[in-house]
Amino acid sequence: MLVLSLVPLLLLCESSCRAADVPEDVTAEFSVRLYHQLQMVGGEDNIIFSPLSVALALGMVELGARGSSLQEIRQAVGYSHFREDEEFSMLRNVTQALSVDEAQYIIRLANSLFLQTGVHFSSEFLRLMKQYFHADAETVDFSESAAVAQHINTWVQNHTESKIYDLVSADDFSSVTRITLVNAVYFRGSWKNQFRPENTRTFSFSKDDGSEVQTLMMYQQGDFYYGEFSDGSAEAGGVYQVLEMPYEGEDLSMMIVLPRQEVPLATLEPIIRPQLLDEWANNVKKQKVEVYLPRFKVEQKIDLKDTLQQLGIKNIFTKDADLSAMTAERADGSDLFIGKAVQKSYLEVTEEGAEGAAGSGMIALTRTLVLYPQVMADHPFFFVIRNRRTGSLLFMGRVMNPEVVDPFDQDLDSADTQV
Ligand SMILES: *[C@@H]1O[C@H](CO)[C@@H](O)[C@H](O)[C@H]1NC(C)=O
Ligand SMILES: *[C@@H]1O[C@H](CO)[C@@H](O)[C@H](O)[C@H]1NC(C)=O
Repeated sequence: MLVLSLVPLLLLCESSCRAADVPEDVTAEFSVRLYHQLQMVGGEDNIIFSPLSVALALGMVELGARGSSLQEIRQAVGYSHFREDEEFSMLRNVTQALSVDEAQYIIRLANSLFLQTGVHFSSEFLRLMKQYFHADAETVDFSESAAVAQHINTWVQNHTESKIYDLVSADDFSSVTRITLVNAVYFRGSWKNQFRPENTRTFSFSKDDGSEVQTLMMYQQGDFYYGEFSDGSAEAGGVYQVLEMPYEGEDLSMMIVLPRQEVPLATLEPIIRPQLLDEWANNVKKQKVEVYLPRFKVEQKIDLKDTLQQLGIKNIFTKDADLSAMTAERADGSDLFIGKAVQKSYLEVTEEGAEGAAGSGMIALTRTLVLYPQVMADHPFFFVIRNRRTGSLLFMGRVMNPEVVDPFDQDLDSADTQV
């Protein structure tokens, strides 16, 4: 659930020149700033959030905003160079580009706005919400806080195949709450090259604090996009690896960025920039790679109100907010402001893909003497799940603490592995 996206400046027409009919997401800059903000307050924890989802939620607010409320969002998200309203068309286009082939993966972007009963939405606002965001709007009575919380949580659960629950609680609402924006994103994809479960085994993962934990490590040798990069200085810890693993259909992929074993992820994180994401994507080359990747599950609830304020979006959370375009009567809009904005994201990475879709690809492992590059994610790494055509960032995060398993897990000991 939640609430908000990226900016490719002038795209240099090199290898990355996109076809004219492919929309391009411009919210990368903003996404990376969000990541850095979360990293600053995130200590040694895992991070997972959906930049695209944040962009969509902010887009919905923007539709109803005027004056400085509107200007702050446009500026912070990176729409200043757009013509008026062009960002809505972009957001709709990048959303559509994600929802094309249901056979390959499932993405549910569910947006909804809940407004206090008695305050009437403007019909123009509702029309635009539908047109650009396929979003519903409902009125609820926030003074019935427990019932509202339950209703919203059920709505979110309904739209995320029950992976996201308890997004809000009764104490998030009171008789002064006027508006709540909910945005849920759910993704399930299968790897183009799946891992064979029998090759998964327990393995030590070294955390950045030096301690070691036992986790389930998947293994395969397959064709992936791979590259080694360095920013030329020693600051980022020298050479690091980038592995891009496509999901079925190849429109979406997970990019994993791994520093050298002895280099903490915190050393690499500061160099992450939107241009760098493009650079990685444009320079990885298809080749055979040996991949060791933990099975992992990351989940995080983010207070977007705090986070967005740090990025300069403040006005909509104050009494000075101008959300008057949401309501039919201008007077009704005068006391509207966003009281609460949270995002909860969940991502599970398994042998079959993200979020365990069915299907079993048999991939033959051939023993060979040729030594391929090896990506051994047995220490913290950064990842993004992006649309390879539009650059949209569906998820961004890092794994600092993988799931810890009992090293004597029966299932694994019985697996016969030919690593
Ligand atoms: C979105 O797609 C429509 C139809 O293809 C196109 O006319 C419009 O220019 C696109 N908007 C943006 C901002 O790219
Ligand atoms: C959730 O889904 C159930 C079953 O389809 C439906 O009856 C219910 O109205 C939905 N609730 C919300 C809040 O969307």
